[in-house]
Amino acid sequence: MASANSGLLGSPPAGTESAEKLLRVRDLSVQFRADRRGWVTVVDGVSFAVGAGESVALVGESGSGKTVSSLAVMGLTGNTGGRISGGSVEFEGRDLVSLPPREWRALRGSGMGMIFQQPIRSLNPAYTVGDQIAESVRRHLGLDRRAAMARAVEMLELVQVPRAAERVNEYPHAFSGGMCQRVMIAMVMACNPRLLIADEPTTALDVTVQETILALLRDLQEQTGIGLLFISHDLAVVAELCQHVVVMYAGEVIEEGPADDLFYTPRHPYTAGLLASIPQPGIGKNRRLAAIEGRIPVAGSWPAGCRFQERCPHARSGLCEATHPVMVATGDRDGARCLRTADLELQGVHQR
Ligand SMILES: Nc1ncnc2c1ncn2[C@@H]1O[C@H](COP(=O)(O)OP(=O)(O)OP(=O)(O)O)[C@@H](O)[C@H]1O
Ligand code: SF4
Ligand SMILES: [Mg+2]
Repeated sequence: MASANSGLLGSPPAGTESAEKLLRVRDLSVQFRADRRGWVTVVDGVSFAVGAGESVALVGESGSGKTVSSLAVMGLTGNTGGRISGGSVEFEGRDLVSLPPREWRALRGSGMGMIFQQPIRSLNPAYTVGDQIAESVRRHLGLDRRAAMARAVEMLELVQVPRAAERVNEYPHAFSGGMCQRVMIAMVMACNPRLLIADEPTTALDVTVQETILALLRDLQEQTGIGLLFISHDLAVVAELCQHVVVMYAGEVIEEGPADDLFYTPRHPYTAGLLASIPQPGIGKNRRLAAIEGRIPVAGSWPAGCRFQERCPHARSGLCEATHPVMVATGDRDGARCLRTADLELQGVHQR
């Protein structure tokens, strides 16, 4: 099994460039109500797509808007006190934003499922894991109790929970963090969704457990052809799993492209900064890792012009504080939101 921090770009899954787009998010904006200031935009015109069988990473520092964007895809913005203020979320060709909430809810579980950073919080401590998986299966697939329980065991076996037939009758507290995450994956996969959103699913786990969960996700994706939206702040992990990368900063997408291109030739200084801060094979262990100095501006206080200007080593006075960059496509790459992208030569990870 590959390590989370080695074999950078060594074994991404086969590309599916022409994959039919299962999910298309266009110009999505999300707001939350802030005291006195009224509604504040935290996700600002975000666009990305996930094809059937494709794995797409949404990466960026804490507070960049990754979770808010993915909860919006799931139709859960209202549950967190926010609202979708613009754009569309198309799933299998249907715009979900204009759907009645009941229909969007029906798609959660059956069409798309989501796993989170703290799996134990997503499980109900009062019910056995089998009951919880079976309940989801009965609701979405209409199976009777016996068939739903058989499905629960089958799914626990699929996610490699040892002694699945016994453990199906145990309560969540009897499972370790890694095993809880397997149970959550089993619960989501039990209803045969076409899209899986995984929001930092390994961040709270030990490194060795992280690796097994990543390997499991990759295997499941290859076996089932599910579309995967993988959210992470860790580009080394993303390199193992994803074919396409969408980088977010201060509520917007600032760079997007195929992983095997973006990692070697970033076109935005922020992406280059993220890449400089990850360990790379072949580079001495004692090398000090570069980090991006400064902090991400908070929603509601984004500067005019480029939102990365205060931290950017390439910022140019008179230019970057004056103009808010749009996404500029370069060659066959989807693009970067930088006014100087054409004249910068940015360093990516080293080619092996
Ligand atoms: N329920 C909420 N009410 C108000 N603001 C919120 C709410 N949820 C998120 N935000 C704000 O939206 C912005 C984006 O948050 P989000 O959780 O999407 O970040 P993230 O990229 O997922 O970060 P992390 O890596 O820490 O999970 C942040 O400024 C956050 O404070
Ligand atoms: S627009 Fe200017 S400040 Fe923003 S990333 Fe590009 S060079 Fe840096
Ligand atoms: Mg988050």
